[in-house]
Amino acid sequence: MNDAKVQIGVNKLGHHVQSSQNRLLIKGGKVVNDDGIQEADVYVEGGVIKQVGTGLLTPGGVRVIDAAGMLIMPGGIDPHTHMQMPFMGTHSADDFYTGTRAALAGGTTMIIDFVACPRGDSLMDWYNKYRTWADEKVCCDYGLHVIVPQWGDKTANEMATLVKEKGINSFKCFMAYRNVFLLEDDEMLNVFQACRKLGAVAQVHAENGKIIERKAEQLVADGIRGPEGHSYSRPEAMEIEATTRALAIADEANCPLYVVHVMSAEAGEAISKARRRGQVCYGEPIAAGLACDNSSYQHTCWRHAAGHVLSPPLRDPSTKERLWRMLATGELTCTGTDHCVFKADQKALGKDDFRRIPNGVNGVEDRMSVLWEKGVETGILDPCQFVAATSTNAAKVFNLYPQKGRIAVGSDADIVVWNAKETRTISAKTHHQNVDFNIFEGMVCHGIAEFVISGGRLVVDERQLKVTQGAGRFVPMPAFPPYVYNRLEKREAAKSAGTVAVARDAYDGPVIDLKAEQERQKAAAKEQPGAAGGGGGPEAAAENVFHRPPTRGGGRHMQESSFSLSGAQFDDTKPARSGIRTHQPPGGASSGSLW
Ligand code: URP
Ligand code: ZN
Ligand code: ZN
Repeated sequence: MNDAKVQIGVNKLGHHVQSSQNRLLIKGGKVVNDDGIQEADVYVEGGVIKQVGTGLLTPGGVRVIDAAGMLIMPGGIDPHTHMQMPFMGTHSADDFYTGTRAALAGGTTMIIDFVACPRGDSLMDWYNKYRTWADEKVCCDYGLHVIVPQWGDKTANEMATLVKEKGINSFKCFMAYRNVFLLEDDEMLNVFQACRKLGAVAQVHAENGKIIERKAEQLVADGIRGPEGHSYSRPEAMEIEATTRALAIADEANCPLYVVHVMSAEAGEAISKARRRGQVCYGEPIAAGLACDNSSYQHTCWRHAAGHVLSPPLRDPSTKERLWRMLATGELTCTGTDHCVFKADQKALGKDDFRRIPNGVNGVEDRMSVLWEKGVETGILDPCQFVAATSTNAAKVFNLYPQKGRIAVGSDADIVVWNAKETRTISAKTHHQNVDFNIFEGMVCHGIAEFVISGGRLVVDERQLKVTQGAGRFVPMPAFPPYVYNRLEKREAAKSAGTVAVARDAYDGPVIDLKAEQERQKAAAKEQPGAAGGGGGPEAAAENVFHRPPTRGGGRHMQESSFSLSGAQFDDTKPARSGIRTHQPPGGASSGSLW
């Protein structure tokens, strides 16, 4: 990517101005990276980490943060959010201010949101719109993925410009939401091939949207209109099928694939299998899928059930455990939230028809605590794996590493000082997300973001939130992430090495003259008695083939022939075989017959 051309979001405060207020020494804690834990202090100045170690020499005027007994970790990166997204007739309720403020409160210091360009619109226009929305509001750093809702030359050109000039390195395809986002398989192949060429990562929302739509219609016709219908209409098989299909298409395009919001364990296993075959692909479970289940759709309170409506939906209670195991083994790579919240009156758009309930749930503030509680406190993940799953792996996949996702000299000072000894209870009454509902309501979680540093600014100070609107920056994500593409390029070369033309003698026998054959058939058709206008030719012949109606059971009559009233036959274009002559009408001179 041409770095010089990438537009970097305006940081209204400017790091050089802030540095005098933001010399921070984090003392007495344990630094946790994805590959190890060490007792060390961390010195931050001018928005970056300047020193990591013990006995550090620091200048005067430094704010000392006491991290004794706590963990110093890279701030969370949530690779999947939808702030102020225009969707299903409304906008998601958290905008880039309230959403990033909530993220910081929970220890997440970067979000990657999606430019949601509806079908027919320009990707570039929507990218610019999102940049304007976000730049003036974000409290933490952010990046963007771009949704591709159509294919064509304009789309291809815009994708190239976005990658080469605008800091985009990932594009998302939807296999659901017909007429808005859904792409057909061949369109998706085009997008994947374009991604491969540009060095981008393809993403996919994997659900068979068309079958789901039919199922939903049937459920409504059968009188099921409540939120449970959302879950019934989107069975796991539809996610598994779409995931498998997307993997096959991505493999065909030699394109890296990142499957967002993996909600089905079997879909996760499809990704895992593809990885074992060597495919470069990644799966992203989300906090909701790792901590909740589909029993909520049976809740008798409509608001409660609708509050859990997202796509793909929550699955049966055994799914969580299987997704966790795949995260622990590395079969699934990153965790996101798909944070996309709607208030009660917005969800109520679907009060009489589940198909109109805006899809989406909360999580950007809760993910770190929920993952710590359900993952680390249970012994499924160790703290290093927690860092990998909440931050480092996303930084690697989207080419932000080691600027993000690591506590190291030179990395951005995006840090969470984590108090794993204390607990908090998640509640909509106390959370910062702009929504009157929380799918994790009442969950008691170990792990509190005691201090949070975002771009060198202390934004959570002893649990007190002190954010600045617009202080975050747009972070360009360069093409060809080495973590993704190094292996892919080698693999592609090895794959194409097996695709070679076979050396053999050229065929030098006769080749059928199709045109002459057609002329001959036309002439033969004209000669038939009653051949009005002489309408011949193989197509016409096929149309004129006599079929009896099906049997009452719907079967084909066993005695049905392929005899045509015009005299032309099904196999007229095939070379005749001895013993099966079909060019004569019934009662004619044929030496054999089909019946
Ligand atoms: O239900 C969801 N997931 N809402 C947000 C849009 C999407 O599909 O990611
Ligand atoms: Zn989605
Ligand atoms: Zn989403």
